[in-house]
Amino acid sequence: MFKIVEKSLLADNIYKLRIEAPRVANSALPGQFVIVRVDEQGERVPLTIADFDKEDGTVTIVIQTIGASTKKLCALNEGDYIADFVGPLGNPSEFVHLTEEELRSRHYLFVAGGVGTAPVYPQVKWLHEHGGNADVIIGAKTASMLIYTDEMARVANNLYVATDDGSYGFKGMVTAKIKDLIDNEGKHYDECVAIGPMIMMKFVTLTTREYSLPTTVSLNALMVDGTGMCGACRVSVGGKIYFTCVDGPEFDGHQVDFDEAMRRQAMYRNQEAHANDKHNHKCNCF
Ligand code: NAD
Ligand code: FES
Repeated sequence: MFKIVEKSLLADNIYKLRIEAPRVANSALPGQFVIVRVDEQGERVPLTIADFDKEDGTVTIVIQTIGASTKKLCALNEGDYIADFVGPLGNPSEFVHLTEEELRSRHYLFVAGGVGTAPVYPQVKWLHEHGGNADVIIGAKTASMLIYTDEMARVANNLYVATDDGSYGFKGMVTAKIKDLIDNEGKHYDECVAIGPMIMMKFVTLTTREYSLPTTVSLNALMVDGTGMCGACRVSVGGKIYFTCVDGPEFDGHQVDFDEAMRRQAMYRNQEAHANDKHNHKCNCF
C-alpha cells in the first residue's frame, strides 16, 4: 500500500498527489511513468511522473478527473492509501544519456499542453540541474486552467504562456507561439519536446516539420499490463509497430501515426462513459 502524503487542487478537476513510494522515487528518471491502481478491483491507470524526490522517497502525479478511475483516485485524501503504484516504467528521456558538454550545446523547446504540463516539469528541472538550456511554452484553454507556471519559471531559461482565449499571456494555441518565437523573435532550437493532448502533439509536429526541428512526443496510449505483453498500447511509428509501455513513452513525433493513435485512444469511449455514469450514480446514492 502507498500513502498519499500530500494532496492539492491545481485547477478545476486537476489534482496533485504526492505519494510515499521510496523505491520508485529512488530509480525514477524524467520521462518515465507509473501505473496506479486505487484498490484491488481498480483499473490500471498510467500516469507520467510529474516529480520525484529521492531524499524523502516521494513521487508526484497530476491527475485530471475525467473518468470513473481518476475520480475514485482523486476522492482519496492525505493519509489514505493506494493499492498499487508500479514503476518507474518506460524509458527515460533520451537527453539523460548526454554528457553535460552535449547538453550545454543544445537548445531545447518544450511545448506543454494542459495537464501535459506536469510531466514536462521533471524534464526541464533535470536539464536545469545538468547545465541544459530549455525554453518552455505552456498552453491552456484559459488562465484558470494553467498549472505549474511558478515551478516551471524557476527551471526554464524562458517561460512563455499561451491561452486559447487570451486571458493570460499570448493569445492563441501553442503552435502559434512556436511560430511567433521562431519567425518573429528569431529563436533557434535544436530539439523540441511536446507533451499534452494527442491532437496538440499532432499539430506541434506538423508545425515543427516546417522548420525541420526534430520533435519528441510522449504518448499516453491506453495501457493494461504495462509490460509489453498485452498489446493494448500499440502505436505505429515510421510504419513499424511499437508498444508505448516498453518502447516509449517517447517517440520521434514526425514518425508517429497520430490519427491511428487517436482512434485507438477512443476505442473504449462507450465503456468509459458507462463506468463513469455508474460511478456518478453510486456517489449520488450515498
Ligand atoms: P487542452 O485541450 O486544454 O489543450 C492544451 C493546449 O494544447 C491548448 O491550450 C492549445 O494550446 C494546445 N492545443 C490543443 N488542441 C490543439 C490543436 N488542435 N492545435 C494546436 N494546439 C492545440 O488540454 P487538456 O484538456 O489539459 O488535455 C487533456 C489531455 O491531455 C487528456 O486527453 C490527457 O490524456 C492528455 N495528457 C497527455 C499526457 C501525455 O503524457 N502525453 C499527459 C497528461 C495529459
Ligand atoms: Fe500491454 Fe503495453 S500496456 S503491451
